[in-house]
Amino acid sequence: MEHTFIMIKPDGVQRGLVGEIIGRFEKKGFTLKGLKLITVDRAFAEKHYADLSAKPFFSGLVDYIVSGPVVAMVWVGKGVVTTGRNIIGATNPLESAAGTIRGDYAIDIGRNVIHGSDSVESAKKEIALWFPEGVVEWQSSLHSWIYE
Ligand code: GTP
Ligand code: MG
Repeated sequence: MEHTFIMIKPDGVQRGLVGEIIGRFEKKGFTLKGLKLITVDRAFAEKHYADLSAKPFFSGLVDYIVSGPVVAMVWVGKGVVTTGRNIIGATNPLESAAGTIRGDYAIDIGRNVIHGSDSVESAKKEIALWFPEGVVEWQSSLHSWIYE
């Protein structure tokens, strides 16, 4: 089954949105297979966002990600990469649809509460980076109520 990496950014943790965000993924029917609260250093944040290293906002982005603890998660389910991004909403919260996490809880692009992998390939890289110890393999007893 498809995996994705989801991170609640420092602003989401500070603002008390952890439960709300996890609830949205749970209620959709996705399965949580990894979860930890972690503060990362600059080298780690730079590795996570390496593809954006040439962008003018890169150092501000790294400052943001290292500014406090984040909640790192692995969620699993059919279509979870794309659907996870839809639940999160557009990068710029002023353009995110109402009902999405960023649309409901954020205003500035540099304080947009949550990260989600943008492809199955990125998800694999990000899960390997954030969960080198591996994830928890289990199947929800609700599986047959969610999948036909
Ligand atoms: P992530 O899920 O965090 O990867 O966001 P994304 O995939 O929607 O956007 P992208 O990967 O292009 O950018 C990563 C993060 O950099 C965004 O979530 C923003 O926090 C930040 N960012 C992107 N574009 C801008 C920008 O133009 N200005 C600023 N200040 N930050 C930006
Ligand atoms: Mg991205």
